[in-house]
Amino acid sequence: MRNSSVTKIEAVEARRIWDSRGRPTVEVEVRLTGGHRGRGIAPAGASRGSREAWDLRDGGPALRGMDVQMALAAVRDRIGPALIGIDASDPRAADSVITSLDPSLLKKDLGGNATVATSMAVLHAAAAAARKPLWRLVADQHDRRPAIPLPEIQIFGGGAHAGRRVDIQDFMIMVPGADSFDEVMEVTSEVYFAAGDIMKQRGKLAGVADEGGWWPSFDSNEEALETLTLAIEKASEKPGERVVISLDVAASEFCRNGRYRLALEDRDMDTATLIDLLGRWIDSYPIVSIEDPVSENDPDGMVEFTRRFGGRVQIIGDDYLVTNAALVDQAADIGACNAVLIKVNQAGTVSEAIAANEAADRAGYRSVISARSGETEDVTISHLATGLGTGQLKVGSFTRSERMAKWNECLRIQDELGVNSFVGGAPLTDTWWGKKERERRT
Ligand code: PGA
Ligand code: ZN
Repeated sequence: MRNSSVTKIEAVEARRIWDSRGRPTVEVEVRLTGGHRGRGIAPAGASRGSREAWDLRDGGPALRGMDVQMALAAVRDRIGPALIGIDASDPRAADSVITSLDPSLLKKDLGGNATVATSMAVLHAAAAAARKPLWRLVADQHDRRPAIPLPEIQIFGGGAHAGRRVDIQDFMIMVPGADSFDEVMEVTSEVYFAAGDIMKQRGKLAGVADEGGWWPSFDSNEEALETLTLAIEKASEKPGERVVISLDVAASEFCRNGRYRLALEDRDMDTATLIDLLGRWIDSYPIVSIEDPVSENDPDGMVEFTRRFGGRVQIIGDDYLVTNAALVDQAADIGACNAVLIKVNQAGTVSEAIAANEAADRAGYRSVISARSGETEDVTISHLATGLGTGQLKVGSFTRSERMAKWNECLRIQDELGVNSFVGGAPLTDTWWGKKERERRT
């Protein structure tokens, strides 16, 4: 048994640092009585769900209203003092103290950025004190089998991450046919640069979007899908075999009063028409996963989409489920989605995010651990995805170090865990890809 006299929280410090968009964010450092330390940094979304934990910003003219002095003060004056003396060896105890200070869903009072940075810092300190990598601590404490996840990697970034240049937010690939995480990286690199070459040849190259994917200078949303399919071919792959496509529609972003507006195409449609359009894309392109196909306020649309396509593709709730266990339970009751996006800062603490993951397991839903569009060098999510064995990880694209840091961390963990710990295509077994793959192997 570990001596709790060395694992008590002794100090909690907060500082303002800067994220991948050059905006202020909250960093927290926790020190334990035995001298071990842990650090957590809050990420920030741009296409946020209305029911997710509040990203507390100061407002006003300075720093475009984005400063985080109020969140820093919440850590220094309220969260920190409440945590002093708490045994960090089980980080769930610290998380329940944090949650009890602001039990509301949105955590508007403390700020979800204040709570998430503190929660992650405690977890890192606990791992340091246990002399374990974070993924191992999480696996041990939650009785999970660690596994290296299958990534979803963005090639074109749109929506709120690219000046709404196209309406669909993420055009991504997955490499379920790979035998290792290295192989995923290799194939992704080929596809990413093939996509860039095509855009250059067509005179459409215009830099990168917030998560490092190519800036989408297309004339229609579908042109991005055509180009992505072509890029997969140019990378010497047969689309639908080793490499498949995944979309984050982020439909809440272009939904107003129950209608969906594709600004790029100057089209306005109801839910049924949007579902038909996405269905045509599923028929025409090797799409294996779709996130937020309809708005966070359209449960009927989500149920209908799941009824029609849930047997063929993965349907992920992001804005719709906001990493909330109760919302996952409700979605399972009505048959909405078949997968859950897990963003720790949507929940506000690591423990609440893990509870949402457990709700997904109970419902038989898949889980995808995800970064935000505003990120930093913090690699906690690579460890959570591995330690919880969630099977999938979504981090953004294949450039810029706040993204690559997460992929690179998975490579390091793979070296510790062994290449056989990579899940490969297992998360997609119940999709059309899984069926095709079984046929290919027999
Ligand atoms: P966000 O987008 O981090 O800007 O909210 C990521 C996503 O929608 O998955
Ligand atoms: Zn999303």
